Amino acid sequence: MRIFLDTANVEEIRHGTRWGVIGGVTTNPSLVAKEEGADFKQAILEICSLVDGPVCAEVLSGDADSMVDEARELASWAPNIVVKIPITPSGLEAASALARDNIKTNLTLCFSVNQALLSALAGASYVSPFVGRLDDVGQDGMSLVADIVEVFRRYQLPTQVVAASLRHPMHCLAAAKAGAHIATVPYKVLTQMVHHPLTDVGIQRFAEDWQKAFGLTVGLAGS
Ligand code: G3P
Repeated sequence: MRIFLDTANVEEIRHGTRWGVIGGVTTNPSLVAKEEGADFKQAILEICSLVDGPVCAEVLSGDADSMVDEARELASWAPNIVVKIPITPSGLEAASALARDNIKTNLTLCFSVNQALLSALAGASYVSPFVGRLDDVGQDGMSLVADIVEVFRRYQLPTQVVAASLRHPMHCLAAAKAGAHIATVPYKVLTQMVHHPLTDVGIQRFAEDWQKAFGLTVGLAGS
């Protein structure tokens, strides 16, 4: 499973990519709007220059023709841009037109297997089931991911499943077990994934033992 960062914050992406574990970035209009004063195009271009992998930018139009126009514009900004499109009838129409032009799409706001299946048949490169938002309304978000993975495998559909709206490290683990191709995580979740209290205690003990034996102070690696 690959890990993408789910953020439009350039600093978070700069930090996250240093670890060498980030395979791409997903943004959405809410995440972009959180970045005060950010120019959308400049922010996306900067993210594209930092990330060696897909960078998802979302359309805002509601009708298919405008979605296609917006998507073509977004895709012209950089070769690694993937256009995010909400799963609606217009979204499917736009996605299938864009697939014919070899423009990659990520069909987003997916809350059912049927929506995922239609996205795959329309030629989407990625589909994004929103796990946390289903959990929020008392449904099991991760079982949707598992069901989509199973259906795509059974019919050998090439669309990749992006487990999205992940809120904590256990979501990421469950996404990996469910067979998601990609988990897109907020920066906070990425940092939570690396930390373990026993790792911190172990580092400290090694340093103390070393100091007792050799009387040397060593730098404590840490957070
Ligand atoms: O990847 C989708 C994500 O940005 C939505 O997350 O936490 O707003 O449901 P959330």
